[in-house]
Amino acid sequence: MNIILLGAPGSGKGTLATRLVDKLNIPHIATGDIFRFNLKNNTELGKLAKSYMDKGELVPDDVTCNMVKDRFQNDDAKEGFILDGFPRTIPQAEELDKILKSMNKKIDYCILVEADDDKIVHRMTGRRVCKNCGEIYHTVTLKPKKDGICDKCGSELIQRDDDKGEVVKDRLKVYHESTAPLIDYYKKQNLVHSVDGFASVDEVVKQALNIIGKWFQLKVTKK
Ligand code: AP5
Repeated sequence: MNIILLGAPGSGKGTLATRLVDKLNIPHIATGDIFRFNLKNNTELGKLAKSYMDKGELVPDDVTCNMVKDRFQNDDAKEGFILDGFPRTIPQAEELDKILKSMNKKIDYCILVEADDDKIVHRMTGRRVCKNCGEIYHTVTLKPKKDGICDKCGSELIQRDDDKGEVVKDRLKVYHESTAPLIDYYKKQNLVHSVDGFASVDEVVKQALNIIGKWFQLKVTKK
């Protein structure tokens, strides 16, 4: 099962993806997370990505596509994957088509996490992430049991640099200009299904599982 999660920054793609991983047993491939991992480890890729991420801009398509192509070679992606934050431009989507074709694979579902911009701005400023395992929280809507501490691994929760101030607005602008056109790109292929990004997390997961239900039931029956 190969899934793309589409949606604005802060719509809840990462939150949904981590829940789906637990149910579907396929990896969550998030280009933003891979860039942040490289940034933390001070690699050349991390340094390059930082110069774009800090301004809310997109990392160049060729860099991003090559990174995803490499990631697909890992054994865990053989049975499928959940792509989060990729593709983000029409050229990235076209390149993804080529990569998948060469691997004899295709996209099965594109799940659009719908959310209004004005609600998103509030959401992003309250987001906190675990600096160790990446688990996502919110200071109001998804609080950890202990303030500032990750429920899963006990590490410190931090605010992402690009969740601060004007960068959020720039990211939303970039989303509407460069990424939103992908909705039509995948609608033309009859792949798009929507979930309500502002429903409760359980409800969003339920809506997504309903969309991919047939495949999910088949897999559970096989086990
Ligand atoms: P990336 O990391 O991909 O960020 P994004 O797409 O902007 O998405 P976010 O991670 O901000 O939001 P999300 O939708 O995952 O929301 P979340 O689940 O956390 O990209 C960062 C940067 O990297 C880009 O700006 C770019 O520079 C670069 N980059 C990445 N990919 C690239 C590419 N392909 N090409 C070029 N450049 C690329 O939820 C948000 C908050 O809401 C959280 O606090 C969460 O707890 C809360 N929440 C979520 N769902 C719910 C719910 N249902 N109820 C209550 N609270 C909820």
